[in-house]
Amino acid sequence: MDETFKVTPWEVTGKVDYDKLIEQFGTQKITPDLKDQIRDLAGDLHVMLRRDVFFSHRDLDLILQDYRSGKGFFMYTGRGPSQAMHIGHLIPFLFTKWLQDRFGVNVYIEITDDEKFLRSQEYNLDQTRQWSVDNITDIIAVGFNPDKTFIFQDTEYIRNMYPLSLKIAKKITFSMARATFGLDLSSNVGITFYPALQIVPTMFERKRCLIPAGIDQDPYWRLQRDMAEGLGYFKAAQIHSKFLPSLTGPEGKMSSSDPESAIYLSDPPKIVERKIMKYAFSGGQPTIELQRKLGGNPDVDVAFQWLYYYFEQDDYKIRKMEEDYRSGRMLTGELKQILIDKLNEFLEAHRGKRDEAQKLINDFKHDGTLAQEMWKKIHE
Ligand code: TYM
Repeated sequence: MDETFKVTPWEVTGKVDYDKLIEQFGTQKITPDLKDQIRDLAGDLHVMLRRDVFFSHRDLDLILQDYRSGKGFFMYTGRGPSQAMHIGHLIPFLFTKWLQDRFGVNVYIEITDDEKFLRSQEYNLDQTRQWSVDNITDIIAVGFNPDKTFIFQDTEYIRNMYPLSLKIAKKITFSMARATFGLDLSSNVGITFYPALQIVPTMFERKRCLIPAGIDQDPYWRLQRDMAEGLGYFKAAQIHSKFLPSLTGPEGKMSSSDPESAIYLSDPPKIVERKIMKYAFSGGQPTIELQRKLGGNPDVDVAFQWLYYYFEQDDYKIRKMEEDYRSGRMLTGELKQILIDKLNEFLEAHRGKRDEAQKLINDFKHDGTLAQEMWKKIHE
């Protein structure tokens, strides 16, 4: 492991070298050819694919093949509800929704109230269960198709997952879990079992499963791929994203444990403005004169990076912004203002949809009872 950065499901530190990560994790780069194939099937290419925010995969080529041949596929992603969601958490959900719109497939969303309880010293189980409802509302607000999207919370849905999780757990030895997740003898036994529960949804249908998620979740999928075929299921395919950087610097990822590093979906316009003006790490020069003379560095500038990842989707405008910033024609304050306006527009629309989403929770959320029906529908 490269000492300068670290990526695990629970921690991302240092300046991530994504090419090295592809090597370390044994994944594949998303090639221009693969992007062409997606464009041909989908009709267009999502901004996060155009800009390599989703940059790595496993078996995405096989997913497209199964789609073309009519075998189809399904998708699975998730969220660990420790607190309110920030804009980084939305990255995989925004992208999954796009894929669902284009390919018309089922999406399963796991809410791991158990994982967050087991991992955290801070939250009790009532809290992670309460955050589940809040987070589910944000996820529904992204606009998933209610007829093809199943959201479930582990502590409620467990009855349907337990039999399969046992078969999976039996294939994971303690030493595999320890090596994959860095557990040790002081880890609680709940968290040693938990990986089985994150793997179960990859086997909800007897089709290939595509998982859009941050690359930090990859260790689970490596375990899954070692055992899936032995249990009669497909090895799960993945499409991995980079991390939306923290507000305060280009290293690590935006994280809920540091409120100054994150913009929450609930942050009102004034707070967004204050956080960005005060904390957004700048690639600009210390004075206007120097900026005009030497220019800024968009590669480390967090305002530019956020615009690039998602919030400025016009390819011409983002290229022009990059040139202007690099050459010194554009100042840091101007760049930050563009981001503030874009973000506030996005967040206002999101909050509107969130109000609507609150009414739809029962259409999406599948507890132990509804799950029976769903299970029958899928497996008949
Ligand atoms: P969690 O809640 O830590 O993160 C939810 C999803 O958001 C991604 N993510 C980010 N993506 C871009 N930029 C960031 N700064 C950023 N921070 C987080 C994560 O990679 C993840 O995709 N154990 C999981 C819950 C889970 C899950 C899954 C996730 C259960 N099953 C299947 C993905 C796929 C967790 O705690 O995610």
